[in-house]
Amino acid sequence: MSSVRFLTGITTSGTPHLGNYVGSIRPAVRASLTPGVESFYFLADYHALIKIDEPARIQRSTLEIAASWLAAGLNPDKVTFYRQSDVPEIPELTWFLTCVTGKGVLNRAHAYKASVDKNTAAGVDPDADVTAGLFMYPVLMGADILMFNAHKVPVGRDQIQHIEMARDMAASFNHRYGEHFVPPQAEIEESVATLPGLDGRKMSKSYDNTIPLFAPREQLKKLIAGIVTDSRAPGEPKDTEGSALFQIYQAFASEQETEALRTSFANGIAWGDAKNVLFERIDREIAPMRAAYEDYMAHPEKVEALLLAGARKARAIATPFMAELRSAVGLRGLGSAVQAGASKTAKVALASFKQYREKDGQFYFKLAAPDGTVLLQSKAFESGKVAGQTVAQLTRDGAAAIAALQAQLEPVDATGVAAAAAALADMAQAAASSDKKQA
Ligand code: TRP
Repeated sequence: MSSVRFLTGITTSGTPHLGNYVGSIRPAVRASLTPGVESFYFLADYHALIKIDEPARIQRSTLEIAASWLAAGLNPDKVTFYRQSDVPEIPELTWFLTCVTGKGVLNRAHAYKASVDKNTAAGVDPDADVTAGLFMYPVLMGADILMFNAHKVPVGRDQIQHIEMARDMAASFNHRYGEHFVPPQAEIEESVATLPGLDGRKMSKSYDNTIPLFAPREQLKKLIAGIVTDSRAPGEPKDTEGSALFQIYQAFASEQETEALRTSFANGIAWGDAKNVLFERIDREIAPMRAAYEDYMAHPEKVEALLLAGARKARAIATPFMAELRSAVGLRGLGSAVQAGASKTAKVALASFKQYREKDGQFYFKLAAPDGTVLLQSKAFESGKVAGQTVAQLTRDGAAAIAALQAQLEPVDATGVAAAAAALADMAQAAASSDKKQA
């Protein structure tokens, strides 16, 4: 069960394009099929609220992205595929992490700083039009990752800083409350090319130069016809270097196919013909998925059911983990023993001795686990002082004292002795470390 956990989120703020497919969807679907890998993919719709205030667009994008991933072969039985807003533990964890994250750290986050720099350059208030959502975005992302203790987070270079911040949050929380989080690592796919768009710049919604992944065949053909080329005439040799068309082809074609197109370029293939070659190659890969995509788009209820099943899987992890974290920070029911002045850095809840006098006038003590389980029960002592000394001996000598004091204790079996010895050892260790602090 020592599998590596991968997790990544996709902000539901747009329609997937070929660049998303090549850079993220295709490698993620492939990685999810690797044995020994446990994958978590989610629709980051809380993140979308930072950028978009059009409800219909958020809903539409959520459907389009989910349908695209499923159509591209993501198998929801093999991975955990869910919608962020179906997991209420994530915003709860966001608050816990908010309380261990330095404000200064967030001041230095790229996305926030870029807005501030822009405002400063424009001579307006540095925080003009900056929401607290944008400012807090790295914390929400930290919660996404730490909620599932992901080891590896496949992201683009622009996200590396956020993963580093998530590591810091994990460390600050662990430092205060004990080891709960695994520090995550960014996983940058060096081999995955960034795809140029229609105008030759990186394909990106912000440049308005994208080719939608599931554009209908005819539209795909038209869009590809619009890719920038130089003005060389048919028969003139063409440069592969710097050709957006060639680069896009390469992202879909085998090495052999790529070499064949390289030769055609050298032989002066007409741009129109090269575009046709590209169109047919892309369509060959996309067409079978397009049918599945269109089916999902026509039946959103199927996607909804899959996402809800994914959320159940995600929450089977998140709900008990959140309960552990709530207890760790001290959000606890008051039914269980309230630990007065317990050490702030205590990593384990400690057992404790209770001394008492019964109606018979005799003195007793017991050692109780934090949940109330009795680990040791004394027999009767005539003197409270002797009972106290016996407690002191157990506290000092631990397991050795349990053996030595058999006559004064109710019988305990081997498992019971082991549990009591472990509890005494934890208590001794906690006492030693608090002495050290006072010294
Ligand atoms: N912020 C990421 C992006 O813009 C999306 C995202 C949200 C994410 N939460 C995440 C990615 C957690 C990885 C892990 O691309």
